[in-house]
Amino acid sequence: MSLRAAGIEAFGGEVTLLELPEPPPLEAGEVLIRVRAAGVANWDEFVRSGNWDVGRVPPLALGVEAAGEVVELAPDVEWPTTGMAVMTHPLPLRYQGCWADLLVAPAGLLAEKPDNASWAQGGAFPVPALTAEQVVSEALAVQSGDVMLVNGAGGVTGGMIVELAAHAGARVIATASQTNAARVMTRGAQLVIDYHDSEWVNRAISAAGSSGIRVAANAVPDGEADALRALADGGRLATITGAPPATERGIRIDDVILRPDGEQLRLLAAALAHGTLHADIGASYPLTEAARALARTATAVRGAVVLEP
Ligand SMILES: NC(=O)c1ccc[n+]([C@@H]2O[C@H](COP(=O)([O-])OP(=O)(O)OC[C@H]3O[C@@H](n4cnc5c(N)ncnc54)[C@H](OP(=O)(O)O)[C@@H]3O)[C@@H](O)[C@H]2O)c1
Repeated sequence: MSLRAAGIEAFGGEVTLLELPEPPPLEAGEVLIRVRAAGVANWDEFVRSGNWDVGRVPPLALGVEAAGEVVELAPDVEWPTTGMAVMTHPLPLRYQGCWADLLVAPAGLLAEKPDNASWAQGGAFPVPALTAEQVVSEALAVQSGDVMLVNGAGGVTGGMIVELAAHAGARVIATASQTNAARVMTRGAQLVIDYHDSEWVNRAISAAGSSGIRVAANAVPDGEADALRALADGGRLATITGAPPATERGIRIDDVILRPDGEQLRLLAAALAHGTLHADIGASYPLTEAARALARTATAVRGAVVLEP
């Protein structure tokens, strides 16, 4: 018996179909999941190139988020139950990544997939949702009445940052392409500015009014400097694309790197069930087309890319 997976034989290598050894016996606290959908995003490129340590070395199935059915439990696991539909961001990997037929994950890092979410929506939800929550609630501690900038609201993670911030009562000024403006408004932004306008930072500052922009989230590679320019003195910036610029004008900057967190994922799953959060799917591929799926993430996709084994 072997495991059908998509991944790499060596860091930096091409993404191909792999035949990997079948999953080992479960250890305490673990469950075995039959994967029904797994997210594909540019962070998988970081794993492929060896720039993100997920706890395993090649041959390695890629993929750091998935949804599927629980098929086996370690003897000490009381929740979930066999057959339950779950989703997870299961790092560090004990066995292999999520682009595979089967996944070994700690029960503590699972959330039940809401019935109103498809497998694809569940599979591409954990990473952007956890990131958005850790930006809004932890790094920025967004409060009702805050005037907040979300730079990169047209993306999957940026869109969830808008939703959670608006839900917390912030007045959100967002940047996105014109084609995404209506969608970002329905997610809770009060104003969407097209970032192709070279004057967008000044327009955002004007729209904020006399108190200025007090909090900002940046979800755009190399977008930190623009977000910083938009912020009022003494404001707070959380960036998820790395390399934060030096602190200036009393601004506090957080470089947020998402953390796996089962309890938080279960709360976010409830938000997905209630419609506070949405999961947009842009493209779906079979496991055999994982390389194409990963390449697709470098193009403009409206919504997440998923593999459905
Ligand atoms: N640190 C972490 O733990 C962490 C976690 C998750 C994600 N990330 C990173 O965060 C970034 C965003 O993730 P994502 O899931 O939202 O990606 P995504 O869905 O691929 O979003 C890309 C979006 O960025 C927008 N964009 C591109 N250039 C822009 C610019 N100059 N100004 C404003 N918006 C611009 C585009 O929006 P339009 O379509 O409107 O043009 C595009 O749709 C990625 O680089 C990802 O690796 C980091």
